[in-house]
Amino acid sequence: MNAIAAVDQNWAIGKDGDQLCYISADLKRFKELTTGHPVILGRKTLATFPGGRPLKGRRNLILSRDPAFQAEGAEVYRDMESLLAQAPEDSFVIGGESVYRALLSHCDTVYITQISASFPADAWFPNLDGDPGWRVVRKEEPLEEKGISFQYVTYQRVN
Ligand SMILES: NC(=O)c1ccc[n+]([C@@H]2O[C@H](COP(=O)([O-])OP(=O)(O)OC[C@H]3O[C@@H](n4cnc5c(N)ncnc54)[C@H](OP(=O)(O)O)[C@@H]3O)[C@@H](O)[C@H]2O)c1
Repeated sequence: MNAIAAVDQNWAIGKDGDQLCYISADLKRFKELTTGHPVILGRKTLATFPGGRPLKGRRNLILSRDPAFQAEGAEVYRDMESLLAQAPEDSFVIGGESVYRALLSHCDTVYITQISASFPADAWFPNLDGDPGWRVVRKEEPLEEKGISFQYVTYQRVN
C-alpha cells in the first residue's frame, strides 16, 4: 500500500479540518499518482473535497463509524478490518491524520510533499525522518509556487 501527503516543516498536514495550503502543481501530481488506483480516506478528509464528493477516476474507500453516513459514488467502511479486507495492494492512503496513523504500518511507499514553511496546525503526519523504519529513496528538485517552496520526497519502508 502507498500513502501520499503534503507536510510542512513540522510534519503538519491540516488545521480546522482543512489543508494548510493549496499548491496547484502538487494537486496535479497527486492526481497523476493516484488516478486509476483506489484511495483510502477518512470521512473528515472527504468533507474537504469540492462539494464533499469522492475523487473521480478512483475507487474511493471511506471510513466512518456513523451508521447513517453514505457517500454517493464511494464505498463506506465502518471499521478498519472490513476496509482492509477490500483494499487492493496498489491503494493510496490519502488521509487524514487518523487514517494515516492507522494504516502507515500497511504502507511500503510514502509520497511526501515537503513544504518549506511552518503553519499553525492541529493535524500531523508521523515524522518519517525520525523513524528508522523508513528511508528516503528519491528527492526531487525544490520547486516554488506563489512564493511557497516545496519538494517531492519518496520514502520506502526499511525491511
Ligand atoms: N496535507 C495533507 O496531505 C492532508 C491529506 C488529507 C487530510 N489532511 C487534513 O487532515 C485533517 C483531517 O484529519 P483527521 O484525522 O481529523 O480526519 P480524517 O482521518 O480525515 O477522518 C476522521 C474520520 O474518519 C473516520 N474514521 C477514522 N478511523 C476510523 C476507523 N478505524 N473506523 C471507522 N471510521 C474511522 C471517522 O469518521 P466518523 O466521525 O464519521 O465516524 C473519523 O471521525 C484535515 O485538516 C485535512 O485537511 C491533510
